[in-house]
Amino acid sequence: MPRLADWTQASGLPRLDAQVLVSAVLGWSRAQQLAHPEYALRGTDLERLDALAARLRAGEPLAYVLGEREFYGLMFRVTPDVLIPRPDTELLVELALQKLDALPPPSTPRVLDVGTGSGAIAVALAHARARTEVWALDASASALAVAQANAWRLLSPQRAAGAIRFVQSDWFSALRHDSNAAPRFDCIVSNPPYVAQHDPHLPALRHEPALALTGQRPSADGLDDIRHIIAQAADFLHDSGWLLLEHGFDQADAVRALLTVHGWRAVFSARDLAGIERISGGQCPHPRQMQSPRKIARSTSNRKRSHVQRAGTD
Ligand SMILES: C[S@@+](CC[C@H](N)C(=O)[O-])C[C@H]1O[C@@H](n2cnc3c(N)ncnc32)[C@H](O)[C@@H]1O
Repeated sequence: MPRLADWTQASGLPRLDAQVLVSAVLGWSRAQQLAHPEYALRGTDLERLDALAARLRAGEPLAYVLGEREFYGLMFRVTPDVLIPRPDTELLVELALQKLDALPPPSTPRVLDVGTGSGAIAVALAHARARTEVWALDASASALAVAQANAWRLLSPQRAAGAIRFVQSDWFSALRHDSNAAPRFDCIVSNPPYVAQHDPHLPALRHEPALALTGQRPSADGLDDIRHIIAQAADFLHDSGWLLLEHGFDQADAVRALLTVHGWRAVFSARDLAGIERISGGQCPHPRQMQSPRKIARSTSNRKRSHVQRAGTD
């Protein structure tokens, strides 16, 4: 039966990691651990600690080993089906809240998180603004199950705007196919896959889902999904709605250029605490450069109803 202090030292882990595991298994704070170094570890506690330490030594991220990660003040469950939420992404939540708060009252803002993963962004927004209607989509059914469980755990059932609407979709395709049911949003946020196909950091990220890192169609510059979202998002936004995208540390110029080429207005980038341009965004193109499915459907039926009536008058 090893003493707590001996196990911590012999674990082969950085002291802080070993202490975090002890906290998870025994429920002891670091202060309690320091006050009782002689405590004898035994039975299932010792077995669990050894098993968790072995996973950490094998390179598995701490968040997966513990099954949780804090984001925007909330503790999210995470599994290897979802990206581990990063502190950088909190800036995206902040910016989205600013955009939603700037809407003229009275309003029930509506926001869509595309590529929700663990639900970190969607749940943080829903938690921070009870009157905001939140939708979240992801291509991965297993990621959506994690996000739904997080929403269920972290949000009040009495939330004024109701529960988050979760949709399984390859980007906007499910919304496009059901354009009558999908509303327009005031803000679309996304932390999409943006890691380039041959990025040298990929081996270090091997425990996280490839779908979250490089996406379904890995590309040389990592921007394929961002290109797709920038080209499609306007169809699902109100005229003054915003698109906010997280991207790689060296992709801001390229993302701003894409937004500008597609007619987005007020294009900007925002810096994270390290001074890196991490989020870029813009306001819905105006006049619309692309016709939305609803407009196309309506103008088609208008034309069918009457040749006298002007098509596409909406
Ligand atoms: C970088 S992760 C972001 C997860 C979460 N929003 C966060 O910030 O922690 C990107 C997410 O996009 C999803 N995704 C990838 N390709 C997609 C697609 N074609 N359609 C919808 N979601 C997709 C992945 O499953 C993953 O959950």
